[in-house]
Amino acid sequence: MNSEKIKRNEFLKSLGFKGTALFAVYCTGISCTTTDVAPISGGSLTINLADSANAALLKEGGYIINSAVVIANNGGKYVAATQVCSHENIRKVIFRSGEFYCTEHGARFSTTGTGLNKDASRGLKIYSVSQSGDVLTIS
Ligand code: FES
Repeated sequence: MNSEKIKRNEFLKSLGFKGTALFAVYCTGISCTTTDVAPISGGSLTINLADSANAALLKEGGYIINSAVVIANNGGKYVAATQVCSHENIRKVIFRSGEFYCTEHGARFSTTGTGLNKDASRGLKIYSVSQSGDVLTIS
């Protein structure tokens, strides 16, 4: 009887461990694929340039972050990329000096997503931006 109880406990413990491990993988999958790396996957993000919250976009070199997307005015042309750096999946990407730049360890990406240094070797997810009047559509 006692040995049966022990076996059962060991069995449940082993199930629990496996459950925890699977959960971790599952969470990592959601975090990287759905929420972080492709936050507007399957849809689009609309930015109104007339909205004062987006005023930074009216200046060359200015940028905003909306829905984990970095949108920037690059010499009068709008560019957009994920805020999540491909180096360690951290939301630290900003726009600086005509490049996307991660403030965590210094990864630098071109506006087409090409990595410009070692920490940026995996590149950066870039979105397309179209403009109609004051409205930017990022997809
Ligand atoms: S997380 Fe961006 S450079 Fe390391």
